[in-house]
Amino acid sequence: MIFVSGANGHFAKAVIRNLLAAGRASSLVVGTRDVNSAFARELAGQGVSVREADFGRPDLLRQALAGVAKALFIPTYDANDLRLQQNLNALEAARDSGVRHVVYASFLNAESARVEHSRLVHYPTEQAIRASGLGFTLLRHALYAEILVGDLRDTLRTGLLRRPGGQSRCAYIARDDLGFSAAQILLRDEPSGHTYSETMEQTWSGEEIAAVMSEVFSTPVRFQAVPAADWPGYMTEHWGVPPEAAQSALGTMQAIEAGEFDVASPDYRALTGRPARSLREFLETVRDAKQA
Ligand SMILES: NC(=O)c1ccc[n+]([C@@H]2O[C@H](COP(=O)([O-])OP(=O)(O)OC[C@H]3O[C@@H](n4cnc5c(N)ncnc54)[C@H](OP(=O)(O)O)[C@@H]3O)[C@@H](O)[C@H]2O)c1
Repeated sequence: MIFVSGANGHFAKAVIRNLLAAGRASSLVVGTRDVNSAFARELAGQGVSVREADFGRPDLLRQALAGVAKALFIPTYDANDLRLQQNLNALEAARDSGVRHVVYASFLNAESARVEHSRLVHYPTEQAIRASGLGFTLLRHALYAEILVGDLRDTLRTGLLRRPGGQSRCAYIARDDLGFSAAQILLRDEPSGHTYSETMEQTWSGEEIAAVMSEVFSTPVRFQAVPAADWPGYMTEHWGVPPEAAQSALGTMQAIEAGEFDVASPDYRALTGRPARSLREFLETVRDAKQA
């Protein structure tokens, strides 16, 4: 059986939809805190085993993982100290339940000392997984391309794409593409020990992103640099990101400015046999969905 944690999340849904498309409903177990959500009920109706699971409740987690051979653990959005403990709980429950292979959704360049969530959550989790003796695959996700369109209405209205980063280039990837690749990993007999850096095939500066947006949305968009220090406040005010989570993004923005995410990796194509969608293709999908 294959397990995916946090079924109601965006990334989890992308993974699950790909597993269903591959005809694997009957061998799929999903964990969620809300087994009565519309999506959870839809999955149950399709023959998926929907189990209550919470990284903060190890006993429940052990039950949810019963009979599972391969488990994808998706970190939560909680405070970083809590998230590390949640991941360690998940790993321990996996070991106790006889899971043979753990897949973890990590972050690009997880060794970065600047990026708080990498330093406090992803890298220590990766290290614990490596030391666990279980089979493992580490999926290091680039920044979600969705981050670029979280405030699309404002961007198009003002003609200003406001982001930190200046001239620095950064790696992005669409969350749906990450759902496809994670599903491939879960579906096949993956040997243990691979770490994949999942990115588009090209990195982008703010100016370049604004230029592609202008073309795709047929309206002028100019890049306006926001100092990294002002970015947490912007995320809270405009996107409703909780202040603590937003503050933790400061180091990520400083890392972008320092060029730490200027990484165009061949891993996605190697893993899936196809390239991740380009920025233009991603933005066209967003545009077409808006018009539908
Ligand atoms: N690479 C990037 O740029 C980037 C950007 C943003 C986030 N991320 C990371 O990727 C993760 C998934 O992103 P997303 O966009 O799918 O977020 P999301 O839609 O907000 O989903 C959050 C997920 O956390 C799960 N969750 C929350 N509390 C939990 C708990 N106590 N135990 C187990 N699961 C719990 C939820 O599952 P249920 O509600 O079903 O329990 C849900 O799957 C985030 O949580 C974050 O760690 C990466």
